[in-house]
Amino acid sequence: MSRRGVTVWFTGLSGAGKTTLSRGVAQQLRAWGLPVEVLDGDVVRQHLTKGLGFSKGDRDENIRRIGFVAGLLTRQGVIVLVSAISPYRAVRQEVRQQIGDFIEVFVDAPLAVCESRDVKGLYQKARAGLIQNFTGIDDPYEPPDHPEVICKTAEHSISENVHQVMQYLQDKGYL
Ligand code: PPS
Ligand code: MG
Repeated sequence: MSRRGVTVWFTGLSGAGKTTLSRGVAQQLRAWGLPVEVLDGDVVRQHLTKGLGFSKGDRDENIRRIGFVAGLLTRQGVIVLVSAISPYRAVRQEVRQQIGDFIEVFVDAPLAVCESRDVKGLYQKARAGLIQNFTGIDDPYEPPDHPEVICKTAEHSISENVHQVMQYLQDKGYL
């Protein structure tokens, strides 16, 4: 019997730790010899969703395209790790319904913490008005109501957060 695929969807503010966490989980899964693909917003926006901006319409389109690809891979038994802000609840719900085997991970860090990390200097630019529609500053982020996993990256280490996601996957029979 072929293995069951799943999409693990990391949502959260810029700088919350989505990319770091999805990479960490990917590394673990690969070490176990499992098929894994990562779809990261920053990367996908250079290819699959190139040309899209950060209006609500463009963000929703970005998420729908990522969700479409994630769905195809999931059906082929792949463990798909998506890391994208995906700020709007409705379109996250839409891709969840479409994919079926879907685990939503809320990468939860306070805005003040994300802003103090400011890994890419984007918050500073947003505060200075050099970037508009920046999530958490002058653009909304709708936190999930019922995420399967909540990773508090300001309170726990990366390896603890990775372990938490791995444990959930194992408990649900995906590993
Ligand atoms: S979305 O909302 O899901 O379509 O966004 P996503 O595809 O994840 O892209 C987010 C990354 O784009 C950079 N960036 C911005 N983020 C938020 N708001 C604005 N206005 C913006 N402009 C550029 C930023 O590097 C985001 O990456 P992360 O990893 O989240 O920090
Ligand atoms: Mg990132």
